[in-house]
Formats: sequence, structure tokens, C-alpha cells
Amino acid sequence: MMIDMKPLELSKRGACPEVYSFGNDFSDHMFSQNYTQGAGWANAEITPYHALTLDPSAAVFHYGQEIFEGLKAYRTADGSINLFRPMENFKRFNRSAKRMVMPEVDLEFHLQALKALLSIDHPWVPEQAGASLYIRPTMIATGKKLGLGASDAYTHFIITGPAGSYFKGGFQPVSVYIADQYRRAVVGGVGEAKTGGNYAASLYVSEEVAKQGYSQVLWLDAVNGKYVEEVGAMNICFVYENKRIVTPALSGSILPGITRDSILKLAPALGFEVSEERLDIQEILADIKSGKITEAFGCGTAAVISPVGKLCWKGTDYVINNNESGKISKQLYDELTGIQYGTREDRFGWIEKVEI
Ligand code: PLP
Ligand code: COI
Repeated sequence: MMIDMKPLELSKRGACPEVYSFGNDFSDHMFSQNYTQGAGWANAEITPYHALTLDPSAAVFHYGQEIFEGLKAYRTADGSINLFRPMENFKRFNRSAKRMVMPEVDLEFHLQALKALLSIDHPWVPEQAGASLYIRPTMIATGKKLGLGASDAYTHFIITGPAGSYFKGGFQPVSVYIADQYRRAVVGGVGEAKTGGNYAASLYVSEEVAKQGYSQVLWLDAVNGKYVEEVGAMNICFVYENKRIVTPALSGSILPGITRDSILKLAPALGFEVSEERLDIQEILADIKSGKITEAFGCGTAAVISPVGKLCWKGTDYVINNNESGKISKQLYDELTGIQYGTREDRFGWIEKVEI
């Protein structure tokens, strides 16, 4: 399918702040295409970034048929642009689409669409250390009907924007509250799909604990309220005795993070043991207390690798590594971001270059 780019001009990025926040600035253009049952995908185009006009009866507003992805473009020292494992995001997008009864997008076409968008918006990829262009592919149900059922029309769009650290303060330990009463997702539900409802379901607790100074919530499994799942915007890893990195096994209700997968592949190459396990929160707390857990960190595209300085369980803080950033978290951060920004060897072939 051709992508209509009309006579669009290369973006001219305006004055840029010294430090970008996350998710508040947007580039000049967007990609979009529409799907209708029977006709399939059509109208692929790149246009100036604009508001969408939708019928108030559009299915996305009522029954939440929506999926999204998050990936980044990185500016390298020679000015070129790297994408990090974009096909993994596009494959996950299609898995989410399938679970939410939405149409899949051809993987190669998805990459072509993103590259076409970057061909005119690449001036927006920041040069500042630690900053990148955050990319948000999204699909929403646009069919007009209130009867409950899968929509017959969808819009897929990609927006991008320059972004800095997800957490204020950058590579600093975050404080995490363990949800003891509320649950995010259940096995058999949609927890492993990247769909807006999972995030909506998490907001009540996130807002409550933010008032007490916790920037993220750690979710436990919904059946037993016992096993560690993931954190609001990232997967979680614990470091045992400075040598073994342990993360919850994918349970069906956890998002299979691409950063998580990258760490599971990268850490052994750096000499660490890794394992995916069912982690009982009480054992984790005991291991923090006894000092067996020497570090903990969250990992995700937006969060990159974020050290966790404390976990709060029912009002008691369990402090990890004196609430300081750990050296293994830093080593993994340096290796991962080194590959992303092109300063370290891409030993796994994860980088996709963007021609500009
Ligand atoms: N878990 C949740 C709930 C997330 O929103 C994210 C971020 O996308 C992750 C984990 C990490 O996934 P990834 O590394 O693919 O960004
Ligand atoms: C990402 O890391 O890309 C995400 O989608 C998490 C989101 C909550 C910012």
C-alpha cells in the first residue's frame, strides 16, 4: 500500500528545552490509516499532527477497544538515527490486536510507515544525552454503534515526540508501593495485551499512593494476591547477591516487555545469571530484609532501567541498597543505552537504522 505524503516539508524543530519531560511534546506530523470491514486497510497517509474527529458513538469511547505501543528513536553521535527492536513492538501490537478483536497491521508496512514518518520528522529526534524520540503507535475502534460487539472500523495512527526521563530526576531510585487490596489484571484477562483499560484500571491506586510519595505501584497476581507481577509502567527485576537477576515469569497477566527480554539476553553476556520465576512477595520482602536482594530495578521503554530504592508493604518500607542506585542496574543501563545510542556493540542485531 502506498503512503500518501502530499507535499509535506521536513520538520523544523523549534527551540528545544535543555531537558525534555516525558510525553508532553509532539512532533509536527503523524501517520494514519483506516480500516473497514470488507475493504481492509486504506487511506495510509502522513499529515500534519492534528486532532481526530470521531462520532460520539465510536466504539472506543464506550467499550475501550484500543491498543498501543511504545518504542523510541535514538540520535547517535554521528547524527544518524537508531530504532531499537521495532519489529518486537509491531509483533506485540498485533498480538494485542488479536486479543482485542482488532485487525492486524502488516509488520513490514508498519515499519515502512514509521520510517516514512521519521523521514520528515527526524529533526525532532533530540541530541541531548538520555533523550530520545518516543513513538506511540495506537489503534482505536471508530465504528459507530452502541450494541456491544467488535467494531467494524478502526483507525491506526503513529504519533511521536521528543522525550526525556520518564521519572523526574533521571537515573535515581524510585519508591514503589505494593498494591495489597487492588489488582491490575487476571490470567485469562487482557493483562498481557497493551490496551488502555489495563492502565485505566491502575490509576486509582497510583493516584492514591502518589500522595504518599510513591511513584509506582507493584501489582500482585489477582488470584492469590501473592505473586509479583509487574510495576505500573515497567517490568521488575531483583538482583540476588550481586550476581543473579530474577524477574517474574510471564504469567499471562504481565506485559511481556521488550526491555525485560533484552535484559534476559544481555545480562548473561555480561556474566550475570538470569532466571524467570514465580516470586512470592513475602519471600521477596524477607530477602530484602536479610540483604540477599542487593538491588532491584524496573525496566521498560519509557522507564529504561530505573533503580527501585524501596518497596512499601502495608505501611512498612523495605529499603533496597540504602535507597541508592545500584552498580548492576547502572551497568545494565549503560550497556542497554550504549547499544540504543550506538556507542556499544550491537551484539544481538537489535538496531534498525533509519535512512535520513
Ligand atoms: N509493563 C507495563 C505495564 C508497561 O506499560 C511497560 C511499558 O511498555 C512494560 C512493562 C515494559 O515493556 P517494554 O519494555 O516493552 O516497554
Ligand atoms: C512504555 O514504556 O513505552 C509505555 O508504554 C509505558 C507507558 C505507561 C508510558
